[in-house]
Amino acid sequence: MRHLIDPLDFTRQETDRLLGLGEKILESPQKYAHRCDGKILGTLFFEPSTRTRLSFESAMLRLGGQVLGFSDAGSSSATKGESVADTIRMVSGYADIAAMRHFKEGAPFVASQYSRIPVINAGDGGHQHPTQTLTDLFTIRRRRGKVDGVTIGLCGDLKFGRTVHSLIKSLVRYENVRFYFISPEELRVPSYILKEVVMPSGHQWEEVRAMEDVMPELDILYMTRVQRERFFNEEDYVRLKDSYILTKDKLRAAKKDLSILHPLPRVNEIAPEVDGDPRAVYFEQARGGVFVRMALILTLLGLEKGILSGEGA
Ligand code: CP
Repeated sequence: MRHLIDPLDFTRQETDRLLGLGEKILESPQKYAHRCDGKILGTLFFEPSTRTRLSFESAMLRLGGQVLGFSDAGSSSATKGESVADTIRMVSGYADIAAMRHFKEGAPFVASQYSRIPVINAGDGGHQHPTQTLTDLFTIRRRRGKVDGVTIGLCGDLKFGRTVHSLIKSLVRYENVRFYFISPEELRVPSYILKEVVMPSGHQWEEVRAMEDVMPELDILYMTRVQRERFFNEEDYVRLKDSYILTKDKLRAAKKDLSILHPLPRVNEIAPEVDGDPRAVYFEQARGGVFVRMALILTLLGLEKGILSGEGA
């Protein structure tokens, strides 16, 4: 049984085939409307979410399946001290597949060790968010036709940003990717990611402080929120929260075919005046998450053959 805990749990070929399935579903959703009849998705969200939980639920409902779950730890028996291992043992009897978000890094991995059903990491602390990465890659492919050759600026909280960590891990597997890591000193990409992921890849990379310095070179600008919930003290958050605010003025130097992505939610980092710019694709990106998650559910339930290696088409 396969799980998706880390973006590298799927090979690049598996990832590309899954994104291709997402495209097919987007083009002809009616063909997939009953593929999950009789199946149940468990959504175990120990931390708040709008997009990930609702897009997973929308995905399962659009496939003809059903959904059960909880949207905060407070309404589950975690408040009574139940472990993640016991929770997933229970849910394995109630659902056919589970998506888990947890504030603790590694919790979905632990769940996968005790589970009798496929487990999907829907974001664990400041660690990984592999289904957001699938959504990001899906958006980049739709905008550019391919991921290879992209110059990407990742901007904001690169230290705690799990979407950034997962995206970097995946992007290094493509050809000729160029990274600009745009952050204040305190929110730089963790050194283990630079040393273990970026440097061995041989891709060009640079850390910069000002987005304006690299704006003309970018194909993708990936904005992120400074996450209040990951800071140990409010003072540091307040000092850093408005480090980057993307405005129309800053976009004047950007390419005409730039794509501005953001995993969302945003706070101040993209001014609302940017939303009407054809280069702002973050809402389209969030919508794409439904098709990607439909593809993922079908794949992990074994209802779509030929995506995972070793399965016949
Ligand atoms: N992108 C993302 O994970 O959003 P939510 O926190 O709303 O799920």
